[in-house]
Amino acid sequence: MCGISGYLGTEPAGRIVHQGLKNLEYRGYDSAGIALVGDTLTITKTEGEVDELPVPTQDDITCGIGHTRWSTHGEPTEANAHPHTDCTGEVAVVHNGIIENYDALKASLRDDHVFKSDTDTEVIPHLIETHLADDVDLLTAVQRTTDQLEGSYAIAVTAAGYDGIVVARQDSPLLLGHADDATFIGSDATAFIEHTDRVTYLESGDIAHITREGVEIYNHGERVERDVETLEWDADAAGKGGYDHYMLKEIHEQPRALRQAISGRVDELATSVDLDIDLPEEYLQSVEEIQIIACGTSYHAGLYAAELLEAHAEVRTSVHVASEYEFNGGRDPWRTLVIAITQSGETADTLSALRTATRAGARTLALTNTLGSTVTREADDTVFIRAGPEIGVAATKTFVSQVATATLFSVYLAQVRNGISTKTATRLLESVRDLPGAVQQILDQEDIIKETAREYADSDAFFYIGRAVGYPVALESALKLKEISYDHAEGFPAGELKHGPLALVTSETPVIALLTDETRPKKTLNNVKEVKSRGAPVIGIASDPETTGHVDTTFDIPDCGAMEPVVGNVALQLFAYYVADEKGRPIDKPRNLAKSVTVE
Ligand code: F6R
Repeated sequence: MCGISGYLGTEPAGRIVHQGLKNLEYRGYDSAGIALVGDTLTITKTEGEVDELPVPTQDDITCGIGHTRWSTHGEPTEANAHPHTDCTGEVAVVHNGIIENYDALKASLRDDHVFKSDTDTEVIPHLIETHLADDVDLLTAVQRTTDQLEGSYAIAVTAAGYDGIVVARQDSPLLLGHADDATFIGSDATAFIEHTDRVTYLESGDIAHITREGVEIYNHGERVERDVETLEWDADAAGKGGYDHYMLKEIHEQPRALRQAISGRVDELATSVDLDIDLPEEYLQSVEEIQIIACGTSYHAGLYAAELLEAHAEVRTSVHVASEYEFNGGRDPWRTLVIAITQSGETADTLSALRTATRAGARTLALTNTLGSTVTREADDTVFIRAGPEIGVAATKTFVSQVATATLFSVYLAQVRNGISTKTATRLLESVRDLPGAVQQILDQEDIIKETAREYADSDAFFYIGRAVGYPVALESALKLKEISYDHAEGFPAGELKHGPLALVTSETPVIALLTDETRPKKTLNNVKEVKSRGAPVIGIASDPETTGHVDTTFDIPDCGAMEPVVGNVALQLFAYYVADEKGRPIDKPRNLAKSVTVE
């Protein structure tokens, strides 16, 4: 996910494109850059957030393109920041997406072209350069170039002395904004929402030629007409894609995040997994123990993963709060695989635990969302969860993506170690494949969840109970509520209530019970009865209609096998969100918390 902004009009392009990038920053924020078009190109780039990029002051220049990056190929450095140029420095390109055949394209160009970055994008300006050498115009050169590209892209291209911009779209989003005397370009309308609400959504395969005479759109060489639509967005909320908070937006992004996590990793028949793991199979077969290290939400994903690894990969697995981790002696370190789960890849406690494991001689694997992060450089191998940027401090989509990816890893490891039948592997993989649709069904119940949250918002405390994979979800759901609502919320293994916490249960303390498949719901129902007889209202997260008679309110969870508690977690993210919203809390920036905790 990256953000593209562009402008051709009568106002200073640098200022408008820079503001567009600022608006799009939630799409990616590890480096940024702008190209302004005069007789030569003026390119400014920076590593880091858009605020680090100076606002261009060449107010006489009225044409430009810009980019804010969330890295996929190449680390987040200034050299890898867009715009990228050809050998002459006269063609500039910004790109969102992934060029899958860039290796082959780069190899075909290498003799005559010098590459300055590690990105897939850089092949595009060089390809355009080769076509321009045939004396064709920029539009034709871009058309010929896109014919060579495989993968997904939204690109904006301009050139020195060329008073126009050519954009092209294949799968990745791109739209145009129209105002009097000006055309805007954006990955989404937040890029230019303060300037115009009249937009054209480009379709896959479209190439638009933007000049001072207007916009012409082509698809496969044919001229096409696209509608101009009027947005109904509130400009103030648009930075969050129209949602009141990033957290709510990210909750709603989960079906897409999950599809990204799964995409290309599970075969057609749901019988096998390919995670592109470099650790040799012989090594994975010889592993005697797995130790998972993580913090907060990632720790809860680790608990979920451990249940699956022990059950299916038949390997002893322990989960460690990273700040408490010590590599205990007495084992063969080499046969211990240490898995660091970290969304940011920069959490100091997790990195410190990883270094402890490395020093002890263990092999290490990172499960992270962030390309180029420290954990990816320090672990022996990395699997990405592909959730896209998460801005809200409370982790939501990254938790579900961590669990889905860890489940795929469990099946992969189990298969490598011959510890799983095809039937079980298929059952698990199908439940992961069903997850995006099941999560969407929960999002469709948002109004019911909101109403329940409002009803319980004034409670004294909230207790979450679950068993098996329901327990990590109980912990995670309680963490979410306490972080953003500041209410007392705790998760317990359902069976533990009677060993102490039951003393806290009153009619003012709702109990939220995970009662989905694979969480031993019948046993948990006994605990539900215990709390009900003390007067506590109970919300059941359930998939079986038989349980609904035992609870006061049910959030219905669609069938999704071993992933049902994850689906339940999404319902409880919404519950936490609306309790906090009812209390008027600053949901995206809870007090005392930060998104990436880089101190121990
Ligand atoms: C909670 C939350 C934190 C993080 C924790 C670890 O919503 O986001 O508990 O999970 O700080 O962060 P990462 O996963 O980046 O290592």
